[in-house]
Amino acid sequence: MNFDLRLSLMFALLTPALRAVDYNSQIKPIFSQKCYACHAVTKNKVKGDVALDTPEELAKVIKPGGHIVPGEPAQSTLLSACKAADDDDEVMPPKGKNRLTAAELTALEGWIKEGASLVGGAAAAAPAPMAAAAASGAAQSWTSSDGKTIQASFAGMKDGSVLLKMAASGEVFQVPLSRLSAESQAQAKAAAGQ
Ligand code: HEC
Repeated sequence: MNFDLRLSLMFALLTPALRAVDYNSQIKPIFSQKCYACHAVTKNKVKGDVALDTPEELAKVIKPGGHIVPGEPAQSTLLSACKAADDDDEVMPPKGKNRLTAAELTALEGWIKEGASLVGGAAAAAPAPMAAAAASGAAQSWTSSDGKTIQASFAGMKDGSVLLKMAASGEVFQVPLSRLSAESQAQAKAAAGQ
């Protein structure tokens, strides 16, 4: 397989598996478009005693025994209601109108599995100081020039390329600096002490 193809595949394949679902960009828009009409304190609509629009209200929903059980999609009745058949009494939104798409259901399920956090996905986690992370060989995020992200540790520089050791497989790839985003190029140079 040629190198460029291998590299794009590496970015393409690893990204979905490794990136956490982000509440603000992926889940909130679903709630807002498909649920707030009936479940928002700010609209004075709290059907079934459920509101999904403020952190205070969400705290009543997201908890052990709540409609969303962090880390437990199978126990989360909010998810099963969204997945129910159109004619099911429990289906949300009711009567099969404005159903969640398959992609939205996948995002919702992934978000619950990852702990149903309101403060963002892995992308939002504060990055460790670069030099320290590189020195300890810890995995960092690297973004390609076309915006895809992987987790890998810095393993050196060679002929204008950065050597990245994949966190998942341990495989080392030689990635031309030009294939990385400006930020990741800077991260490589900082790690190399340049
Ligand atoms: C058209 C209004 C409407 C929309 C839109 C709607 N719901 Fe509901 N929802 C209701 C009503 C009415 C109830 C109370 C039904 C009941 O208790 O049987 C309810 C109850 C619920 C409950 C509690 C169920 C229980 O077992 O107590 C959950 C969870 C829920 N909705 C989630 C959602 C989610 C998530 C969305 C968006 C994807 C949504 N709803 C969209 C009207 C709506």
